Amino acid sequence: MNIDHRIYLCLAKMSPTGTEQRYIQEAFSSNWVAPLGPNVDAFEEELARHFDRPQGVEKSPVYVAAVSSCTAAIHLALLLLGVGKDDEVLCQSFSFCASSNPVVYCGATPIFIDSEKETWNMSPELLEDAINDRMAKTGKKPKAIIVVDLYGMPAKWDEITAISRKYAIPIIEDAANALGSYYKGKPCGTFGDIATLSFNGNKMITTSGGGAIICKDEATKKRAIFLATQAKEPFLHYEHETIGFNYRMSNISAGIGRGQMTVLKDHINHHKHVHNLYREFLSTTDFTDLTDISVQDNPNGDFDSNFWLTTILFKKELDTEAFCLELDKAGIEARPLWKPMHLQPVYKNAPAFTNGVSESMFKHGICLPSGPWVTDDDVKYIVEKIKEAIVF
Ligand SMILES: Cc1ncc(COP(=O)(O)O)c(C=O)c1O
Repeated sequence: MNIDHRIYLCLAKMSPTGTEQRYIQEAFSSNWVAPLGPNVDAFEEELARHFDRPQGVEKSPVYVAAVSSCTAAIHLALLLLGVGKDDEVLCQSFSFCASSNPVVYCGATPIFIDSEKETWNMSPELLEDAINDRMAKTGKKPKAIIVVDLYGMPAKWDEITAISRKYAIPIIEDAANALGSYYKGKPCGTFGDIATLSFNGNKMITTSGGGAIICKDEATKKRAIFLATQAKEPFLHYEHETIGFNYRMSNISAGIGRGQMTVLKDHINHHKHVHNLYREFLSTTDFTDLTDISVQDNPNGDFDSNFWLTTILFKKELDTEAFCLELDKAGIEARPLWKPMHLQPVYKNAPAFTNGVSESMFKHGICLPSGPWVTDDDVKYIVEKIKEAIVF
């Protein structure tokens, strides 16, 4: 293995036929070089069609608006649900900061909820405890629930949506990692009242940077676009009754997105293939009992993760930071699992409902290269290096 060949977690890969460049070229030729245009419209329609094709379950149409990032999409989703100053929003702690930071942009307070052990996503039990506790303490219902399909693994949607309905609190599904994942045959991105996607350079498909907001009706999509384009009232002069944002996706980025839609299925298959290889190689490689490793897997047949990133847990606690640095020396990009938000200094004052699960994951786990550039030989090499690093 050539050490110059660095293996990344998930690097963007364009379609082999150069479709992205064709759509970009069309944008240049027609001078649609703006944060709107035919590529934006078509990308939104193609995304909506993806969600309109569940695996053998009832269809429910979705309405998609393309925006500049998933972070922007979550911010818009909160605004669409009326989240504002002095509101509380229940938020999965085990995630990237972009799931909860928009709550603070709205002047609201995130209330962090720990994970359950099977999917690593929001614990339904803690969610219900948190709702009851906050209502008792503040006399007010939390305004929304932000649930993440972390690393591509669907959350426990039956249990979580039942709680959301019981207390009439809407869900924002952060499906940034989960394009192409399914729960009981339904695509991730359709479980929340509003859902969001990321097309950052490291996701299942990319628009370089970008995101989308997935709505259940056209009026909500229109309102999202209104807020994402500076909330301009329908006058010839600029008239504003609301504070808006400049969050729309550019027609150039959307051209990349359209090209990427042609390889989405290949990318999903590749991520799953890489995941299976890790399982195979890790299970046939001898490790000492001190360092037994488990690979995160679908808990049962209801779950169909895209395995955006393959994640592993070491049975014993070890210095995951040092471990990843050791892999880095071998040209492998690995990263400790996300540090839960309730342990982040910036959120030290936010209330949290914890059970130790995400803290334990953080202390025991790392994510491994899984993207479309990762070859079978790379996976073999990475497993060898994991074995070497374990005894350093
Ligand atoms: C779970 C989750 N939510 C949101 C985001 C933010 O996405 P974006 O970079 O498109 O804003 C990320 C990015 O990695 C993520 O992992």
